[in-house]
Amino acid sequence: MYGPETTRRMLKTRWPELDRSKTDHGTGKPAPQRQKPCSGEKVALPEPGATVEHPISFRDAVTLRESRRSFSDEALTIGELSYLLWATQGVRKSGEKASFRTVPSGGARHPFETYIFVNRVEGLEPGLYRYLPFDHALCVERKTREFEAKLDEALLKHHFGGAVDFVWTAIPYRCEWSYSWESLRLILLDAGHVCAHLYLACEDVGCGTCAVGAYDQDKLDALLGVDGYNEFAVYAAPVGKQR
Ligand SMILES: Cc1cc2nc3c(=O)[nH]c(=O)nc-3n(C[C@H](O)[C@H](O)[C@H](O)COP(=O)(O)O)c2cc1C
Repeated sequence: MYGPETTRRMLKTRWPELDRSKTDHGTGKPAPQRQKPCSGEKVALPEPGATVEHPISFRDAVTLRESRRSFSDEALTIGELSYLLWATQGVRKSGEKASFRTVPSGGARHPFETYIFVNRVEGLEPGLYRYLPFDHALCVERKTREFEAKLDEALLKHHFGGAVDFVWTAIPYRCEWSYSWESLRLILLDAGHVCAHLYLACEDVGCGTCAVGAYDQDKLDALLGVDGYNEFAVYAAPVGKQR
């Protein structure tokens, strides 16, 4: 679809050409919402880490981290899920236009929403939920047991029977507002930090994950119920308890 000239040009920065006074931020347009609103039911999450065992040290988590593609049938506790969500997008400090999280983000734009397909989490009905980092709560998108086959198809067989599948969407305007075309690189660089935290946090609580960059864009966007233009999937990661 693209030759190496295009992909290599897209990978390189043209930062000195970016006139930030001409971006929407520079011309005084209001900052975009930092979190998509939740019109439906909300589920409160326990304090991150409050009820979680940490069987290994950080050093061991780094040493033991690997991509895990098979999981036990055990459910995650809600405390473990809360911990993983906090570790990947939790809010440390919040300003009027920006927020500061457990992960870094270019210009503190944090362009992601975190969706989770819940399959086996104690105390949570199966279905699609969205993390609300500013409330440390979940927004119920859809309660259903019917998603597993469709999810595996959308993930091109990368569901791996996960207890909960993370899918991160990007809302590009959150970044474009301030960084115009440079958003392409910033958003994808940011995504790497988020999933790296998930890998390490998983090891920390006896879970495992595998980054998934290969999925069917249209099918996954349709399953999430996002429009594919203003918001679309950029990365996924099934999570389960280690065998
Ligand atoms: C950006 C990115 C995308 C990836 N996409 C996939 C994928 O679609 N399917 C898969 O099985 N593994 C995927 N992986 C996992 C890699 O295959 C894995 O990290 C690599 O083989 C090294 O193994 P390790 O993570 O166990 O060190 C991805 C990893 C990254 C960082």
